[in-house]
Amino acid sequence: MAKVRLGVNIDHVATLRQARGEVYPSLIEAAKVSLEAKADQITIHLREDRRHIQDTDVPSVKLVTERYGVPLNLEIGANEEIINMAIDTKPDWICLVPEKREEKTTEGGLDLLDKTNFERIKNACLKLKDQIKDVKISLFVEANEAILQKCIELKVDAVEIHTGDFAIDFNRGEECEEHFSQFQKMKELIQKNNIGYHAGHGLTDESLKPLVDRNLFEEYNIGHWIICDSIFNGLSNSVKKLVQIINKG
Ligand code: PXP
Repeated sequence: MAKVRLGVNIDHVATLRQARGEVYPSLIEAAKVSLEAKADQITIHLREDRRHIQDTDVPSVKLVTERYGVPLNLEIGANEEIINMAIDTKPDWICLVPEKREEKTTEGGLDLLDKTNFERIKNACLKLKDQIKDVKISLFVEANEAILQKCIELKVDAVEIHTGDFAIDFNRGEECEEHFSQFQKMKELIQKNNIGYHAGHGLTDESLKPLVDRNLFEEYNIGHWIICDSIFNGLSNSVKKLVQIINKG
């Protein structure tokens, strides 16, 4: 079986920087430290309101990932201006996410059952595939069969399953077997169609373990916990801790 991958989302390094309008902490340094600690890719989210990642960060981080020979995974909403920015930078992966200005963070997956939304995402996928040679596209969605059937119809390269609700239940000490069984069922459906099965949102070192133990996903994209933990332990140690959990699985 292929190695399970860790994508380190460094958005919140930029959140700290933007809080003061400073030039530090360096996003480039954060990407380098994460990759030296053996992360498999760097993930950033260029939001419409530019609350953390800025336009110039995207090509800068891309240079770092190129130097390390790993993918840059760019998360974006299906917004024309942002799609054009993505086309200019040519990331290796693009993860399309829903985006509302008033939300604290991405709240749940894409609603592909809504016809207008489905068409918008379909057109975004077609444009990105047409304009960026060899780009791979993933869609951030819930572990819901009807929605995943829509992803299959769109022939995307991967789905990224929203793990936020699971992570909240796990952190509260609630029973999580239903989440695990749904993730497993949807894994079978997705892998039968040769689509990658990724996960992300709200994960911590502790909530990552049961997912890895059950061999549920091929890739995990984790950000907020890593940057929070790094306050006490340093970014390199925080990333290494997750790499170890994934490698043990
Ligand atoms: N995956 C997607 C699609 C996201 O939108 C986010 C948050 O930007 C993450 C993963 C990382 O989530 P967290 O910061 O909660 O680890």
